[in-house]
Amino acid sequence: MKIVVAIGGSILLKEYDCKKFQEYSEILKSLASENEIFVVVGGGKPAREYIGVVRELGAGEAQCDDIGIEVTRINAKLLLSALGDAAYQKVPHNFQEALEYSATGKIIVMGGTEPAHSTDAVSAILAEYIHADKLINLTSVDGMYDKDPNKYEDAKLIKEITASEMIEFISGKDTKAGTYEFFDMTAIQMIKRSSLETVIANGYDSENLIKAINGEEVGTKVISK
Ligand code: UTP
Repeated sequence: MKIVVAIGGSILLKEYDCKKFQEYSEILKSLASENEIFVVVGGGKPAREYIGVVRELGAGEAQCDDIGIEVTRINAKLLLSALGDAAYQKVPHNFQEALEYSATGKIIVMGGTEPAHSTDAVSAILAEYIHADKLINLTSVDGMYDKDPNKYEDAKLIKEITASEMIEFISGKDTKAGTYEFFDMTAIQMIKRSSLETVIANGYDSENLIKAINGEEVGTKVISK
């Protein structure tokens, strides 16, 4: 299978150490023996901090996004260090490059591409571009809830949702640099238009990646209607 795995920066850099990079590099290497693997890495806290500084300097939103993109690419480089020879040691800056580099048969790791979306969108566009069989989005929550789980104790995890329902749900949420909410709109629209099999799951437990790939029940499954 061709699989795109998006890993939030908040997962990889929660503790600012190498553990999650190592953990994921082992899993990705083993998956790569039977699958074609593309990884998109997010910016996490360092991206938000850098964006905060440049915003204070008076930068506009697109310029803030650019800083965020640079940080995602640094995070991608860290994962490349962990993967070593199993990965192509250059971070693609766009989808064409990702496709070109994948001809090496190695794992491809990229960060952001251009302003005005998050790496969720990058992973969904990439999945469409390379005709991926699956998109697995590993984030810092268990999946999508019917209401904010931080505010409501009775919030319930949604096990399955259509892309159209998700679009409705997310409309009106914030889209400023560094604050793309739970899942960005461009990503869902891509999932919808390319009928992409997608799972959103908690990335703190790296086993969830294997479960999602094996089709076991985990997180939120997005149906592309
Ligand atoms: P992320 O995708 O990491 O955003 O990109 P995030 O929502 O903060 O996600 P987590 O915390 O990693 O899960 C960081 C920032 O970089 C810019 C955006 O400003 C985004 O908020 N960015 C990233 C872009 O403008 N374009 C891209 O293609 C990627």
